[in-house]
Amino acid sequence: MDLKIAVLPGDGIGPEISEQGVAVMTAVCEKFGHNVTYEYALCGAAAIDAVGDPFPEDTYQKCMAADAVLFSSVGDPKFDNDPTAKVRPEQGLLAMRKKLGLFANIRPVETFECLIHQSPLKEELVRGADFICIRELTGGMYFGEKYQDDEKAYDTNAYTRPEIERILKVAFEYARRRRKHLTVVDKANVLASSRLWRQIAKEMAPQYPDVETDYMFVDNAAMRMIQDPRFFDVMVTENTFGDILTDEGSCITGSMGLLPSASTGEHTPVFEPIHGSWPQAKGLNIANPLAQILSVAMLFEYFDLKEEGAMIRKAVNASLDAHVRTPEIQVEGGAKYGTKEVGQWIVDYIKKA
Ligand code: IPM
Ligand code: MN
Repeated sequence: MDLKIAVLPGDGIGPEISEQGVAVMTAVCEKFGHNVTYEYALCGAAAIDAVGDPFPEDTYQKCMAADAVLFSSVGDPKFDNDPTAKVRPEQGLLAMRKKLGLFANIRPVETFECLIHQSPLKEELVRGADFICIRELTGGMYFGEKYQDDEKAYDTNAYTRPEIERILKVAFEYARRRRKHLTVVDKANVLASSRLWRQIAKEMAPQYPDVETDYMFVDNAAMRMIQDPRFFDVMVTENTFGDILTDEGSCITGSMGLLPSASTGEHTPVFEPIHGSWPQAKGLNIANPLAQILSVAMLFEYFDLKEEGAMIRKAVNASLDAHVRTPEIQVEGGAKYGTKEVGQWIVDYIKKA
């Protein structure tokens, strides 16, 4: 298969983990006979510094021309600490989501047996937790009408029927391919937008008789995720709730540095780690490249290249078992490996496999 990949390393630890993601992708493509080419493009603070725009036209064009985008992370403290900054790196991320029509953000929450002791929750609660949060990504308060003056401000949580239908369709189909259990998360006891979500979900559910669909208020879902994470198989929710719940989900398994994500929709899909740009670690060769590397696995799986994805997952598990780990997950007394060394170990494993 020919694969044209737009690589957006971004800011902070982004370029370091991006390098390892690309190295692993190249190794897998060589092994399986795929022809991969890369186009690099700027985004985030790096793009603001270079051209004054966090998602420049050139980057947009490169994304549109690619089969997939391998994204790393954006964000820089020099913007966080300046409330007067007119442009912010995060706007690049939102522009990318909107312009590529990436309405479905898929964030898996998986446990790794060897890291379960790192979870802030009791091991017996977490062991075996395995669910997917599907977050609507281009609507709701993030993009609704906004107003702000010194006395009043508001954001509008607007959703239209087609926006709700298309994300629910993705969710029902995911549930169908998994354990056939979908939880629609909303705040229908208070919000009109949520009531429309719930109405439409109830209209659609009979088309998926094999899927058991339940409805849960977001506050309750936040609690249930901690009390009984194994309850969930697929959950679907609006943009803002999904932002909050996926951070919660990512720490359940004690391994934020290991969780990848995919964003799909109208144009080129984007694959990225769920963690941020961790500016304090920039250039120190300590960031965990596994979330980025697992994003490459999701990329292959998106194109139905299952063996390629499985090969990456196997290599990642082998590296963990061999204690080839970055400092934050290393076992006591174990040698410390850097970003590069972990990436290289996985590349070597794939070449030898
Ligand atoms: C995320 C992030 C972004 C979001 C920020 C950086 C704009 O928190 O991808 O979850 O809120 O969507
Ligand atoms: Mn977030």
